[in-house]
Amino acid sequence: MNNHIIVLYNSWTGFTQRYAQLMGTELDCPVHPLKDAPADLSGYDTVIFGSRLHAGSLDGWKKARKLLAQRGAKKLVVFATGAMPNEAEEAIRKMWTQNLTPEELSQVPHFYLQAGLCYENMGGADRAMMKFAAWAMSRKKAKTAEDQAFQDAIRQSYDISDPKYIRPLVQCVQARG
Ligand SMILES: Cc1cc2nc3c(=O)[nH]c(=O)nc-3n(C[C@H](O)[C@H](O)[C@H](O)COP(=O)(O)O)c2cc1C
Repeated sequence: MNNHIIVLYNSWTGFTQRYAQLMGTELDCPVHPLKDAPADLSGYDTVIFGSRLHAGSLDGWKKARKLLAQRGAKKLVVFATGAMPNEAEEAIRKMWTQNLTPEELSQVPHFYLQAGLCYENMGGADRAMMKFAAWAMSRKKAKTAEDQAFQDAIRQSYDISDPKYIRPLVQCVQARG
């Protein structure tokens, strides 16, 4: 077991947890929900943190950023999971600039991993938010092709996750040693 790396995550419907566990297997390192993070992280060379996107925000990152610093985390790597495809490069780039500080953007390696939507595991408030998004989109007049694709996609659960998407992150962590 590699005790110099640790993966911490927030997950509501399971996608981020699955990606975190795959990283743990690949890097042979411990994996915990953020709420169970060790009190002292100073012994780890690299702390990987992952969470979902929630209305454009990397969910829990503000709290996690503080907690990880307080617990002595050194090098950080961040990943986000979401419903949009990896090809949505412009939206992903914008999302990072909205969630990371300029310093983090240049110093913290960050990765987006396409995942999907899981209505079965979703909480009531999230389901209501998705219902509202679907309603708002159905009322929008001049819809772009992207709007239409979004409206079609959120009608039901879907899974566009794949273990292969963790590779760039894993390679980055391995290369840092
Ligand atoms: C209310 C709500 C808002 C969401 N907002 C976004 C978003 O802004 N961008 C995105 O790509 N995915 C969005 N998603 C999809 C989740 O980020 C995606 O399902 C994620 O992988 C869930 O992670 P989890 O299974 O670990 O909880 C949203 C999902 C919900 C329920």
